[in-house]
Amino acid sequence: LLFQQCEMIHLSTLFQFAFIIGFFHLSFFTLFLAFIALTDLQNLGARRVCLMTDKNLSQLPPVNAVLNSLAKYGINFQMYDNVRVEPTDHSFLDAIKFAKKGEFDAYVAVGGGSVIDTCKAANLYASSPTADFLDYVNAPIGKGKPVTVPLKPLIAVPTTAGTGSETTGVAIFDFKELKVKTGIASRAIKPTLGIIDPLHTLSMPERIVANSGFDVLCHALESYTALPYNMRSPCPSNPINRPAYQGSNPISDVWALHALRIVAKYLKRAIRNPEDREARASMHLASAFAGIGFGNAGVHLCHGMSYPISGLVKNYKPKDYNVDHSLVPHGLSVVLTSPAVFAFTAQIHPERHLEAAEILGADIRTARIKDAGFVLADTLRKFLFDLNVDDGLAAIGYSKADIPALVKGTLPQERVTKLSPRPQTEEDLSALFEASMKLY
Ligand SMILES: NC(=O)c1ccc[n+]([C@@H]2O[C@H](COP(=O)([O-])OP(=O)(O)OC[C@H]3O[C@@H](n4cnc5c(N)ncnc54)[C@H](O)[C@@H]3O)[C@@H](O)[C@H]2O)c1
Ligand SMILES: [Fe+2]
Repeated sequence: LLFQQCEMIHLSTLFQFAFIIGFFHLSFFTLFLAFIALTDLQNLGARRVCLMTDKNLSQLPPVNAVLNSLAKYGINFQMYDNVRVEPTDHSFLDAIKFAKKGEFDAYVAVGGGSVIDTCKAANLYASSPTADFLDYVNAPIGKGKPVTVPLKPLIAVPTTAGTGSETTGVAIFDFKELKVKTGIASRAIKPTLGIIDPLHTLSMPERIVANSGFDVLCHALESYTALPYNMRSPCPSNPINRPAYQGSNPISDVWALHALRIVAKYLKRAIRNPEDREARASMHLASAFAGIGFGNAGVHLCHGMSYPISGLVKNYKPKDYNVDHSLVPHGLSVVLTSPAVFAFTAQIHPERHLEAAEILGADIRTARIKDAGFVLADTLRKFLFDLNVDDGLAAIGYSKADIPALVKGTLPQERVTKLSPRPQTEEDLSALFEASMKLY
């Protein structure tokens, strides 16, 4: 039946992610994990290692720990610290140039999603030197060609608690020409190993914890409510064309729900108190859990609509981000539309929407199933209000006049928008952006 309808779940991808997890009670753990990573590099026979990070992180403890260990164990490496926070095609190309020139045989990415994604792209194109940049970029913006070349090992050391990029086969960038985000999606670019060491998240300032945490929240909510895997179409004629995002399924549901419960319990604590190690460690794990869930099931409208919200940024300079350009942090661009999106999608799986609202703290004892979307939307609004989140798209510089451009930027995001449980027209998208202008 599953074969007839559409597709099987690609089970192996769910277990393809190897990782090492650190715990706070071992005070020497950061060094210990760095040691394991270096032993891994030695085992891989790496002779020329590329260490990637961004300028801000290059001055902070996570990168220092790795640098000290690389020096101590005499590993030959070159550092690239020019990763752009919220990368663009230009910044990807700069990193790719560095990777091609360096002829590296292994990569270590120390940072948030911006660093890990840039490193995935650098590894891919350095391993496929004749490929044109658009060859592997998602269609319809790029050609979406399957990756058939072998890549070099990549060890990902996440320092935010957000993207779960250490677990996924996705690399996102802002395509300057179209002023919209898009990406590369292939199992082939998944990191070989993820090192989940919560000590690395202690230096994150409040708003970075909040915004990256909202990404975890939306990964969990969107993958749990995504179109089920057996309703996706068209069925690929060859498994090599099977998309990375396969629709919600019983296995990704486990990861999504577990991550959502952790977000409900720990996100506020992790934001408000940098000393709350239990909360920071739990969120770091939730990020990886949600990553395994959405990396297989996919995300839908909050993410699809977030790409033009980031790409069309005007002058917004978020607090706590040590960068010299305007940007809408990814997690913020995703979460601002979440109340409107889930009020819209709840028609299809109302019981899942209600369940999510309950996990996030709503009292649903007297809630009617037909109100599921409003219940979840209200719960999210309260959650965001409590955390001092900007009051909708208007607060980050958008107005009604921008809605046509925001809709236009969402239309090419079919890879994710098609995973919305409820199909949407251009008018629906306009209404969702309009409803997200103000939240409270
Ligand atoms: N590949 C995927 O599966 C995936 C999923 C979601 C998002 N993304 C992408 O990831 C990017 C966002 O990544 P992100 O939210 O992890 O943030 P980020 O990598 O953009 O970093 C944000 C800021 O936090 C700083 N920072 C990171 N760790 C820190 C630490 N421990 N201490 C102090 N400062 C720290 C960075 O220097 C930077 O200034 C976006 O481009 C987004 O589109 C990718
Ligand atoms: Fe995300």
